[in-house]
Amino acid sequence: MRSRAEIQRSEEQQNKMAPSPKGVVVTVPMLVLSVASAAIFLFFLISSLSSCPCSNTAITVNDQAFQRSTDRISATSEDIAWLKDQIHQNNLQMQQNILRKGINPRTRAQQLEDLNQFKGISHYKEDEWNNHTALPCPSELLVEEHHSNYGEPWAGGRDVFEFLADSVKLRPESRVLEIGCGTLRVGLHFIRYLNPEHFHCLERDELSLMAAFRYELPSQGLLNKRPLIVRGEDMEFSRFGSGILYDLIYASAVFLHMPDKLVWIGLERLVTRLKPYEGRIFVSHNVKFCSRLKGDECTKRLAALGLEYVQKRTHDSLLFNHYEIWHEFRRSKV
Ligand SMILES: C[S@@+](CC[C@H](N)C(=O)[O-])C[C@H]1O[C@@H](n2cnc3c(N)ncnc32)[C@H](O)[C@@H]1O
Repeated sequence: MRSRAEIQRSEEQQNKMAPSPKGVVVTVPMLVLSVASAAIFLFFLISSLSSCPCSNTAITVNDQAFQRSTDRISATSEDIAWLKDQIHQNNLQMQQNILRKGINPRTRAQQLEDLNQFKGISHYKEDEWNNHTALPCPSELLVEEHHSNYGEPWAGGRDVFEFLADSVKLRPESRVLEIGCGTLRVGLHFIRYLNPEHFHCLERDELSLMAAFRYELPSQGLLNKRPLIVRGEDMEFSRFGSGILYDLIYASAVFLHMPDKLVWIGLERLVTRLKPYEGRIFVSHNVKFCSRLKGDECTKRLAALGLEYVQKRTHDSLLFNHYEIWHEFRRSKV
């Protein structure tokens, strides 16, 4: 027989116990202790995971990718080695480009003839042939005749972009103005990289502008980048608005085709549109508009505008035996 006191103590003891779903009995202090231990365990687990070498590796790789995309735009020596290795591993040689299974190489002239003769390669007939195309593009542009408009290969546009972009440490939020962007051989790369509306261009040639608007921008999926491309030939920049300061203004193979007087008018108008002091003007090929002035006349004239010559640089093409000469200018500090 248990005494009344013993029975009461036993009942009190039972009240402190909570039955688990499987009938295992857990006391309140045990519960508190378990939660505390779990919390301490979790704390150490998370700390050890964040110092784990495998997680560090992932972060480093991402960091490198991030730095790569923001610090450097041109191909690295590792990129080039990787590409050569891929060609080697696949045992690729340049073969004659002739008819073979599933491949029917044709010249631009042949393609143009087909397009004109068959109204494109449309399945729609007669009046309908052009009714289902939102942006019907002239055949000459479709066969990319405009890629041969300039002396240099079209691919050289990428070289120019990489050189200029790395030179000014281009960021997506940078603002860029090209004088004479032609068919966007260079401009396309800037437009793709920059934020919408951050690429501006002044171009005088109507056919080049047609190629840019009717073929290049839509075919490259860049309509959403809304580049501001203005037709004009008198170095008049008012249509680009006021208050914008460019990180980069460049003229690729343009100033050598312009009268010196017009180049100087342009420079005068551009000074206040160039970001002081880190903004840069880059001019390719030569600066005869400058060197044709005698003695130190050019330096004086630049200084009067608030500009100074920084240096001459060259840049090797990635794909063909060629280097481009560039002349760099900035706003003077005094
Ligand atoms: C050799 S192309 C170079 C095009 C482009 N910058 C490139 O590198 O591919 C020269 C371009 O400058 C343009 N240009 C020449 N004089 C100009 C002027 N006064 N104003 C605007 N563009 C001009 C031409 O129409 C042509 O598109």
